[in-house]
Amino acid sequence: MSKLFDIYIKSYCLTKENAAEFFDCIGDLYFTEEVQGLKAFPQHSTVDRLDHITSVAYMSYVYAKKYNIDYRRTARAAILHDLYYYDWHDKARWHRPHGYKHPRFAVENARKLNPGISKFEVNIILRHMWPLTVIPPATKAGFIVTLADKYCAARELLRADCKYFGKKFDENIRSFKENEKC
Ligand SMILES: [Fe+2]
Ligand SMILES: [Fe+2]
Repeated sequence: MSKLFDIYIKSYCLTKENAAEFFDCIGDLYFTEEVQGLKAFPQHSTVDRLDHITSVAYMSYVYAKKYNIDYRRTARAAILHDLYYYDWHDKARWHRPHGYKHPRFAVENARKLNPGISKFEVNIILRHMWPLTVIPPATKAGFIVTLADKYCAARELLRADCKYFGKKFDENIRSFKENEKC
């Protein structure tokens, strides 16, 4: 298994024991109704938005820490990067083109949830769709989140829509959990 894939698999098996520091960074946001409510919305194929933001935030946290970047604020921004409350597959025109508009909706909602949010975090959320939205992130942390977002999106689509990858995903989750018990 690649290191990236290991981290992705772990993002589905996080507990307060195996990821205490991660939850210390994001817990006050993550366990709110606003964030937990993202479970109700599909993100990529059959994968819901809560699972998506959890994977993106955990991967971002791991890599920000590895590169001595402010991992706390990186993880917090990643938790909020897709904080919008509609199914983007809907045909309604007010949120289209979705790829361009939803980072601004996420920033608005993030400000409501966390009025003290920093410029550093806002920029990460606002620029996470780069290069679709032309202006790149202003920080290394922003690049980490945008890359983690794309990696997770690709994994989610493969997992949901390709039998081989779906099976591989299930097997890896099972073996991760078995190894943790050892
Ligand atoms: Fe997004
Ligand atoms: Fe995303």
